[in-house]
Amino acid sequence: MSAAQLFADRYGAQPEGVWRAPGRVNLIGEHTDYNDGFALPFAIAAGVCVAASARGDGILALTSRQQGAAVIEVPLGELTPGQPGGWAAYPAGVAWALLTAGHHVGGASLAIDADLAAGAGLASSAALECATGLALADLYQLAVPRTELAAIGRRAENDFAGAPTGLMDQLAVLLCQAGHALLLDCRSGAGVAVPLDAAAAGLALLIIDTRARHELTGGGYASRRRACEDAARALCVRALRDVAGASALDRLSEDVLRRRARHVVSENERVRQAAELLRTGRLDRIGALLTASHSSLRDDFEVSWPEADAAVEAALEAGALGARMTGAGFGGSVIALVPAVAVADVAAAVTDRFARRGWRSPGFGSAEPSAGAGRLS
Ligand code: GLA
Repeated sequence: MSAAQLFADRYGAQPEGVWRAPGRVNLIGEHTDYNDGFALPFAIAAGVCVAASARGDGILALTSRQQGAAVIEVPLGELTPGQPGGWAAYPAGVAWALLTAGHHVGGASLAIDADLAAGAGLASSAALECATGLALADLYQLAVPRTELAAIGRRAENDFAGAPTGLMDQLAVLLCQAGHALLLDCRSGAGVAVPLDAAAAGLALLIIDTRARHELTGGGYASRRRACEDAARALCVRALRDVAGASALDRLSEDVLRRRARHVVSENERVRQAAELLRTGRLDRIGALLTASHSSLRDDFEVSWPEADAAVEAALEAGALGARMTGAGFGGSVIALVPAVAVADVAAAVTDRFARRGWRSPGFGSAEPSAGAGRLS
């Protein structure tokens, strides 16, 4: 990635610094974050770089190699939700959220370069928000703790870009450590690093990009979120995290609400079990939990998509220990836990399945638990 080069090309000077934030794979714990529940993400090697300098004229200038590299300029005082829109809403929303939280941010020029696909279920928007947040905080010497920066990123996404997402992605991007997953309690925002070393166990974590792309500003994510809130209200609990057990859900008379809530309640339990297995060095035993998570997201939460179901099925048939969609759903990626010796077979089986269905060839990458966001130079 050469965000610094893009910066020099567009603004005719070297940047004051370069900041980088990774994408994440959520190992397990999907659609639990906005229910105050648990998730187990880890940061990956691919990410987003932001080269930036402060400027004295109160203007936020944005350019992105992946978005055509035109420069968008907005006076800070004119930032308002939806303006600018599109990809620029994410970095602009961060400046706006910092300002609305009372931080003294001035103008800045930003150049963005990424090796992380957008819409692939790997938290590219959180990576962009968090790299931007770190850059602005450093440029203006703001003392913003990482957990607060995560909340700023979420605010940018929810209130400026209009995607009603939870806090998992921003926390993962900012708090994850190399070689570890992060057990997140999304009520308290606390994260505990849990060792995740697939290679040592003779295994690999394979990311399968199904090439189907999602958009979280569409209605599907918001309607799932609403259903969870309706179910919590009907059960008289603060959030679905507080449901004592699956039997309590019998009190929900509406089938759709009961299935949505059942996913969340069972997923929280699967996260706890997976974290415990990781903690005790039994990564090879989490496969069944991953696959159960996928079935629950497909049948009860209904956020899976045909390419993901086919990828999971083909991967399991070819020897994966477990596989599931990762991220919000409606498109994006699948994560599979595969014996190292079977990686080529699994990739070939998934590719073959896609070809038979007439779909574009999937992409494959190995998911190495990597470091969280930081300053590069
Ligand atoms: C997206 C959102 C997260 C979370 C996941 C689903 O990645 O940004 O907050 O809700 O979907 O687990």
